[in-house]
Amino acid sequence: MEAQNLLSGFFPNYKIPLTRTSKKPFSCSLPSNPSFHSLLQSHNCVSFKTHYSPCFKGSLKKIFFCVNASENAVLEEKDYKRPQVVKRKKLAVFVSGGGSNFKSIHDACFEGLVHGDIVVLVTNKPDCGGAEYAKNKEIPVVLFPRTKDATDGLSPSDLVAALRSLEVDFILLAGYLKLIPAELIRAYPRSILNIHPSLLPAFGGKGYYGMKVHKAVIASGARYSGPTIHFVDEHYDTGRILAQRVVPVLANDTAEELAARVLHEEHQLYVEVTAALCEERLIWREDGVPLIQNRGNPNEYS
Ligand code: GRF
Repeated sequence: MEAQNLLSGFFPNYKIPLTRTSKKPFSCSLPSNPSFHSLLQSHNCVSFKTHYSPCFKGSLKKIFFCVNASENAVLEEKDYKRPQVVKRKKLAVFVSGGGSNFKSIHDACFEGLVHGDIVVLVTNKPDCGGAEYAKNKEIPVVLFPRTKDATDGLSPSDLVAALRSLEVDFILLAGYLKLIPAELIRAYPRSILNIHPSLLPAFGGKGYYGMKVHKAVIASGARYSGPTIHFVDEHYDTGRILAQRVVPVLANDTAEELAARVLHEEHQLYVEVTAALCEERLIWREDGVPLIQNRGNPNEYS
């Protein structure tokens, strides 16, 4: 059977029952069609959970407004009436390792801090900590890319089809070590974020990952480091910077100590940025720089 057909079986005309209003999570029953279940098994998918948190209200403002991929990215000045009810967003998270950022975002969704749900975990390492955690939490796991060793992995077009079937709004890279193919970037313009453990544009690019980043920071004598969240383009770590947080580099720091201090900030920053993304508080400045609108004071941007 063609992958496309299989993937369209993820949620075939399936509507989540909308009767529940409490913040507690619930499981929805899955379609009984056998190809859906064989697809779940072949990709280590288990079941699907979601939950609700309060809706957000907004006001009439004149701003530079950019909508996301599903609404055709445009940049224009117009009177924008923030919708009374912001749709709860569906998130895909990509990991290759332990997945501590993925866990903190998942917790934040669960606690109602983020107006969204992680609907799929994508990985190139099916046995990594992040994938194990997803399986335990009954989040579908998808293997990407397809390689000689991972023949059941998806091709780029199959992945795009799978994400579309799941109605994914945004993609969050959290320690995913493979380059994102152009096909996926085209399919999700201005909708893919990555977190990097240094203050980009310093100490970024091919080869700068994991402990190598922190070793290079210490060796350079830089007094400050910290995580950067940026939009993803076809190259490593070069997309538009969205948010950063400064972490001091101490005189006697080891790479491991610095990494731990940066990772602590990563968890908070990625949750804050994901919350803004899901609440539609991102705008694009005329020169193409993305900004986050303050939740409490809508006239303030960072
Ligand atoms: C983080 O340091 C992140 O900045 C980088 O990869 C690491 C992932 O850590 N891109 P974890 O898997 O979320 O614990």
